[in-house]
Amino acid sequence: MAREDSDQSGPRHVAIIMDGNGRWAQMRRRPRLFGHQAGARRVREIVEACPDFGVKYLTIFAFSTENWKRTQTEVAGLMSLFRRYIHKEMQAFKAENVQVRFIGDRVRLDAKLRALMDEAEEITADCTGTNLTIALNYGGRDEVARATKRLAQDVKAGRLDPEDVDEETLPKYLDTCVLPDPDLVIRTSGEARVSNFLLWQSAYAEYEFIDTLWPDFTREEFGRLVGSYGKRDRRFGAVKA
Ligand code: FPP
Repeated sequence: MAREDSDQSGPRHVAIIMDGNGRWAQMRRRPRLFGHQAGARRVREIVEACPDFGVKYLTIFAFSTENWKRTQTEVAGLMSLFRRYIHKEMQAFKAENVQVRFIGDRVRLDAKLRALMDEAEEITADCTGTNLTIALNYGGRDEVARATKRLAQDVKAGRLDPEDVDEETLPKYLDTCVLPDPDLVIRTSGEARVSNFLLWQSAYAEYEFIDTLWPDFTREEFGRLVGSYGKRDRRFGAVKA
């Protein structure tokens, strides 16, 4: 879906790079997974806060295509956490009218996790409240490469004329095709990097890089960032009249 310039002053779509779980755990002399578990609890608080702050779409970066490079123990622990989390939370999301979607390449994920992802998407498909998108085995470059492959297949099959390929065409092949572009991207933990997150979609997003580690991120801080976004002057490359 193309960028939508809405009348509301706050961000309609907020995307978050949830960073700092490992350091949060380390500061407490606990294993990294302890930090990820605390991070998972924060997800609920922020999802619940969205309607209060006028945020209709929330997209969170849970696992990147690069995160497979972590130790086998951490990767297995994260996968187990995702399975438990989705199993436990999907009914609660439905009850709270939250529509859940996943973006990323599912092929490398195990069958049990994929089945849970499908189930969560199915049972929340009719929910009309907050749109929660969880990026799992997601990488912006990987997404563009997969989209381009499908686009090329359509050209080869005669379904798409190369002359018709423009800025509106490619996003239709992205994992995010049904979502508006993010207005605000937040990254916690003091790193000022984009780390391959929503590269195409965030071309005009505002960014907030904050020092708070993800397990310490609160609805109050979320509200403050959403509020300060309303004071920014987004021009999308144009000059103000
Ligand atoms: C980055 O922190 C965080 C991750 C790679 C995992 C994100 C996962 C969660 C917040 C928990 C689960 C989420 C869901 C949706 C259930 P890091 O480990 O890189 O932290 P560090 O930079 O301090 O080492």
